Parts: sequence; C-alpha cells; structure tokens
Amino acid sequence: MYNSYKSLTGFTTFKINTQAKNITTIKSIDTLVDEWHHAVCRQEPVLILGEGSNVLFLEDFAGTVLLNRIKGIVVTEDSVSWRLHVGSGENWHKLVKYSLKHGILGLENLALILGCVGSAPIQNIGAYGIDFKRVCEYVDVLNLYTNKYFRLMAEECYFGYRDSIFIHKYRYGYAIIAVGLILNKKWNPILNYGDLVKLSPKTVTPRQVFNYVCNMRRIKLPNPKKIGNVGSFFKNPIVSSLFATKIKSQYPKMPTYPQISGDVKLAAGWLIDSCALKGLRIGGAAVDRKQALVIINLDHATSNDVIKLARLVRNCVAQKFSLWLEPEVRFISSVGEVNAIEVLS
Ligand code: FAD
Ligand code: EPU
Repeated sequence: MYNSYKSLTGFTTFKINTQAKNITTIKSIDTLVDEWHHAVCRQEPVLILGEGSNVLFLEDFAGTVLLNRIKGIVVTEDSVSWRLHVGSGENWHKLVKYSLKHGILGLENLALILGCVGSAPIQNIGAYGIDFKRVCEYVDVLNLYTNKYFRLMAEECYFGYRDSIFIHKYRYGYAIIAVGLILNKKWNPILNYGDLVKLSPKTVTPRQVFNYVCNMRRIKLPNPKKIGNVGSFFKNPIVSSLFATKIKSQYPKMPTYPQISGDVKLAAGWLIDSCALKGLRIGGAAVDRKQALVIINLDHATSNDVIKLARLVRNCVAQKFSLWLEPEVRFISSVGEVNAIEVLS
C-alpha cells in the first residue's frame, strides 16, 4: 500500500521492519531548517533521528525522518583543559576513539555507546561510572519554530540519571546542533565499576580503561549489528531508601546503588532476572539470555511483539516487587513520539 515509503530498518538498531514516507540525510544546519519547514508546510509529521539506537517505531512513520549527520570537531586548549566543539551528527564512539588517539582523555569509560554526539545530552548517556554531564560544557540548540540558536551551559541542562531538559522543555521543535565538551588535562581515571576495579590507579593507562570498557560491553551486551536491540529497554528505578530496604530484607542479594539524594537506584536487570524472564519470547522478540534488561529482535520481531513482551516484563516485575519499570527507549507512532508508559499500561 505504501509503495513510495522508504525502509527505516537500517536506520534503527532494533532492525524492526518499519518505513517512513521520507527519509532525508541532513549535513548542514541550513538543510535541517529547510527540511523541517518543508515538512511543517506540508502538514506532515517530522522527526530528527541520530543513529536510531534509542527508539522503537510502533508503526510506519507518516512523515519525514531527518537523519542528523551534521559533522565537525574543533579542538582548543588552555593550560588546564581540552575543549571540543562537536557537530551533533558525529558518531559518539568515533569521538571517543578520536580523543584517545589525540591524547585528549576522560571519555574512555563512555566507549562503545551507540548513537550520535548530539543525542548524548538528551538522556545524559552514562556507563561504567561516568555520565555525559561530567564532560559537558554546553549544548547548542536550534529553536526550529523561530530559527534562533541558543547555548545552554551544562548546569542549565538539568542533567539527571537518563534525564535532561531535552526530554522535557525542549522535547519537540528543538534540534541539538552541537555540543561542547571540556576535559581536564590532568587525567583522573574512574575505576569503580565492573572489571575496572581490577586496574591499579597507579599504573593504569587510558588505553587500558578503553579496552576494558569495550571488552565488558562486548561480553554483556548483544551487538546490534548482529542482533537488533536498543540497549537497556527500561531505566533502573530510583526508589526511596525505605522501599529499597523493604525489598532487600526479602531479597538480600539484590544490588542497590545509594544516590546522593538519599534515594536508592535498583538494577532493573536484576529485578527482571529474578522473575525468571531471561529467554522469554513473544513472536520474534525475546528477553536477552545474558542481560535481562535488553529486549532483542531475535527473529523478524514486529513492534507489537516488543510491546507485548515489554508489557509482560513490566507486569511481572510490578507483581513481584510492587514497582513499575519505565522504558528508557523512546516510542514513535506514525505521527511522532508517544508516551511509552501509556503504551505499555
Ligand atoms: P536516536 O535513537 O536516533 O534518538 C533518540 C531520541 O532523541 C529520539 O527521540 C530523537 O528524535 C531524538 N533526537 C536525536 N537526535 C536529536 C537532535 N540532534 N536534536 C533533538 N532531538 C534529537 N545509553 C546509555 O546511556 N548508556 C549505555 O551504556 C548505552 N548502551 C547502549 C548499548 C546498545 C547496544 C544500544 C543499542 C544502545 C545503548 N544506549 C546506551 C542507548 C543509546 O546508545 C543512547 O540513548 C544514544 O545516545 C542514542 O543516540 P542515537 O543517536 O541513536 O539517538
Ligand atoms: N543483573 C542481573 N541479571 C541481569 C542483568 C543484570 O542480575 O540479567 C545484575 C548485575 O549482576 C548487576 C546489576 O544487575 O549486579 C546491574 O547490571 P549491569 O552492571 O549490567 O548494569 P545495568 O544496570 O543493567 C546500566 C545501564 C547501561 C550501562 C551499564 C554500565 C541503565 C538502564 N543501564 O545497566 O546502559 O551500559 O549500566 O554502566 O542505566 C543503556 O542505557 O542502554 C545501557 C546499556
């Protein structure tokens, strides 16, 4: 029926078979502005996409998908810091490799995270002991309604765990066009997560940290080039310390991560695993056998398979632990983003 539609499958890491009316690659801010306005004039939905590693298209998209490929890396330095001004369409992992190659240190723990640099501030990407907030100086944003740019300094981005102002106030009608990173010339290795604790702070090199992080990730997470997925499907829930203590008294082995606020982060992967859901399959979608927080496209999964499975996982966890997991992945309908919790409820 939609013969002129174009396949989105190769532009998302879930690799679910969906299509969009138009898919346009954006290499400059001028083209971004033009394409956005053309779509709006045609009264069609429009969506900016990076590398599609945190989205689930629920159905075919009835408008234009703009693939952000705005490039460019400018490095400056003073006696204490390196500063990188990076086009939002650069690939995050390539930036990590580029910085390591040029002796610009501090991004190693964030190696191998998928997606574009401009997507990194949106959910404040984080892994292996650090998050984007730690290295961010500013984010440059374009208001697509007014064509005006503005710069938000890191403290104005309200970064939190998988959270920022870009998921709230600037969720729609704003494009991130560049980010500014600031990295201290005095390297301070962060070695408190996973296998990194095995490294000695006295002798460790940035290359070793990079290699360890890449290794851990390759062991723990399915490679989207081989098996479709979007990383963690749900966020780790943050609960009151009272609630955490109550569950922990029943399940003493449950991992807990106390937060500065006094609240406690729980491991959604552990909660799902404890419900014995690893390997559970609906249609072509399955809960990964190694990492229960990852839903995989095992065999030609449809978005409906994924939704049904995620709903079941969410219900099982709620029944056992009295808490509702929230998706990390963004759900996109035929006309734009929809509330993922409502879809799963
Ligand atoms: P997309 O999926 O393309 O877009 C995400 C959302 O941002 C969409 O709503 C889109 O419309 C919007 N958007 C994209 N670009 C722009 C822009 N320039 N301006 C405005 N809005 C925009 N995340 C972590 O935090 N830590 C991890 O360790 C991690 N590991 C992962 C491992 C795997 C195997 C996978 C598949 C994913 C992982 N993720 C992780 C999630 C993902 O890598 C991040 O969320 C990433 O930042 C998404 O980038 P993207 O370019 O693919 O975004
Ligand atoms: N666990 C289990 N069973 C599982 C999965 C995990 O028992 O099936 C336990 C682990 O043994 C560990 C705890 O749960 O004790 C936490 O697991 P892990 O260290 O693998 O981290 P995670 O909470 O599952 C988070 C991020 C990842 C990030 C890693 C490393 C979220 C939602 N996920 O995963 O980010 O790479 O930590 O820092 O915060 C992503 O956001 O897409 C993502 C992959």
